[in-house]
Amino acid sequence: MCGIVAYIGEKSAVPLLMEGLKKLEYRGYDSAGICIACNHRLEVIKRSGRIAELEKVARLNEISARIGIAHTRWATHGAPNEINAHPHLSCHGEIAVVHNGIIENFRSLKDMLTKEGHQFTSDTDTEVLAHLIEKFYQGDLATAVIKALHNVEGTFGIAVLHKDEERLVIARRGSPIIIGLGQRETIVASDAVSIIPHTKKVIYLNDNEIAIIGMHDYRLQNLNGESIANDIQEIRWNIEQIEKRGFKHFMLKEIFEQPEAIRNTMRGRITNGQIKLSLHTDISRIKRIIIAACGTSWHSALIGKNLIEKYTGIPTEVDYASEFRYRQSIINRDVLLIVISQSGETADTLAALRKAKTAGTQTFGLVNVVGSTIAREVESGVYLHAGPEIGVASTKAFLCQVVALLLLALYIKQQNGEQIDPTLLEKIEAIPEQIQQVTERSDELREIAAAYLANRNFLYLGRGINYPVALEGALKLKEISYIHAEGYPAAEMKHGPIALIDANMPVVFIATKGAVFDKVISNMQEVKARGGIILTITDHDNPYLRELSNHLMIVPETLEDLSPLINVIPLQLLAYHIADLKGLNVDKPRNLAKSVTVE
Ligand code: AGP
Repeated sequence: MCGIVAYIGEKSAVPLLMEGLKKLEYRGYDSAGICIACNHRLEVIKRSGRIAELEKVARLNEISARIGIAHTRWATHGAPNEINAHPHLSCHGEIAVVHNGIIENFRSLKDMLTKEGHQFTSDTDTEVLAHLIEKFYQGDLATAVIKALHNVEGTFGIAVLHKDEERLVIARRGSPIIIGLGQRETIVASDAVSIIPHTKKVIYLNDNEIAIIGMHDYRLQNLNGESIANDIQEIRWNIEQIEKRGFKHFMLKEIFEQPEAIRNTMRGRITNGQIKLSLHTDISRIKRIIIAACGTSWHSALIGKNLIEKYTGIPTEVDYASEFRYRQSIINRDVLLIVISQSGETADTLAALRKAKTAGTQTFGLVNVVGSTIAREVESGVYLHAGPEIGVASTKAFLCQVVALLLLALYIKQQNGEQIDPTLLEKIEAIPEQIQQVTERSDELREIAAAYLANRNFLYLGRGINYPVALEGALKLKEISYIHAEGYPAAEMKHGPIALIDANMPVVFIATKGAVFDKVISNMQEVKARGGIILTITDHDNPYLRELSNHLMIVPETLEDLSPLINVIPLQLLAYHIADLKGLNVDKPRNLAKSVTVE
C-alpha cells in the first residue's frame, strides 16, 4: 500500500504535494519522491527513507510549478532505496508515473520492452509502466495511458505526467484514487486525508476508469475511451478517521483488512492449480527444517510445522529465535532455516539467521517489510504483501505468514512431483470471504468482551494445529489489555492448569471440527465440572456445546488445516474489544514496540 498525491492548479504545487504526502505516510514510508512539470521539462527529486528525508532537499524550496505528482512508498517489488523510489520516468524522461498496486505481469512486459530497446534503472514494476506508456505515446498522454493499461495485469492507482502536456492523467484498478475538486485547482490522492484541507468535494474513480485533469477542467473515461460521469460527493469524515478509514484504531482496520491482505499474499502464487514461488533453495538437500521466529511470528511457525510436516514429510522444528541463537544447535548444510518476521528487523531473528548462515545452512525468509535487513540477508524468501501493519499487535501479518507457510509447504510437495488436491486449493481461495463473514460480526464479540473487562486471567485451549491459535489468542489479549492470559494444548490442562479453574477464570476453547474434536469436548466438560466459564469458538451448532458454553461463536467451516486462519479472527476481535472497552491505547500498548530491534 503506497500513498499518491497529484496537484494541478494556480498555487505552487510543491508545498501542497509535500503536505499531502505527509498525511499519507501511514500508508508506506520506506522512500518518497516528487515530480513537477514546468516549461516542457520534468524534474524529479526522490529519497529513500521517510518523507522527512525528502523534505531536507533544498531544491524543493526553489521550484515554482503548478502541476506535479508525488509518492510515498511501501515497497512491493525492489528494495526501498532511492533508485526504486517513485516517481519513475520513461526512457527519455518525458513521462513520469507514480503507482500504488502490484503489476503481476511486469516481468513479461519488461522483457518485451527491453527487446524493443528500453533501458531500465530500477527493480520496480512501476518503471515498466512508464516505459509502456512511452511506447504507446503519439502526442496524447491519455490515449497512451489507456493503451498501456490494456496490457497490464494486476492492480494500480496511478498519476501520470508528460513534460509537454499541462494535465494530469489518473487511472485506477484495485487501488483507491480520489479526485478533490477545489477552487481553480484539483488535488488527487490515495486517501481523502490529503484532500480534506483543500476541498470536501470529491469524485471517486472506480476500477478501470481514467481521469484527464487540466488546469480548469476535467473529463472521465473508461478504459475503452468512452466518456463517463461520476457523481461529485461530499467527504464527511475528519482527517483522523480517514487515516484509519473510519476505524477507531489501526489494529481494527488491519483486522478488517485481512481478507484483502491474504488475497495479496496469494496473488500470482496460485495459478491453474500450481503454486508459484521464487524459491532458490535446493530442496533435494533439505533433510530437516528449523523455523526461528519471535512472538506472533513464532506462533505462525508452529502452524507452519504442522503444514510442512504433513505436506512434505520433512522433519520440522520450531524454535524461539532468542533460544536458537545461543543454543548449540545441530545445524549444517542439510538443514533449511526458515525465519519469519513481519518487520524484518527483529534482532533475535536476525541473529538466528546469521548464525545459521555461518553453518552453511540454506535460509528462507517470510517477511512483510520489503528490503528489510532480514529480507536482504536470506538466500531466498517470500514477501507477505500484507501492507503496512501499524498496530503493535500483529494481526494481518500473522494470517499472511500462515498462508505463506502453507504455500511453501505445497510448493515443496509439488516440486517433489506430488499433485496438490484441487479441493484444497478451492478451500484456500474461499478463506478471504469466510474471514469477512467473521469480521462482519465484530459487534457480537464486543458484546461478549463487555462481560469480561474485570477478569484478571484467561486460559486459551486448543489442540493440534489450533494449539498455536490458542497461544496467539492469549498473546493478543495480554499485549493490548494487560490481562494475564495463557495458551495451552487442551489436553495439557489436566497436568496443572486445571488447578486454576474457577468462576473467575474464563477459558476460551477452540472447538472446531477436527481429528480430536471429541477430546476437546471432554476438556470442556472438565472445566464445566469445576465451575469454570467457557467461551467457545466452533464451526457447527451443537446443543451440547451450547450447554457447556457461557458464550459460543460459530465460525465458517473449512478444512482443519485451514481452520487457524478463521479461528484466530474472533480471538483478535475479543482482545481488541476488551482493550478498547477498557479505554487502553490499543495501537501503542505500554512497554511494547512494533519492531524489537534490541536483544
Ligand atoms: C505480536 O503481536 C507482537 N507485536 C510481537 O510478538 C511480534 O510478533 C514479535 O516482536 C516479532 O516481530 P516480527 O514478526 O516483526 O519479527
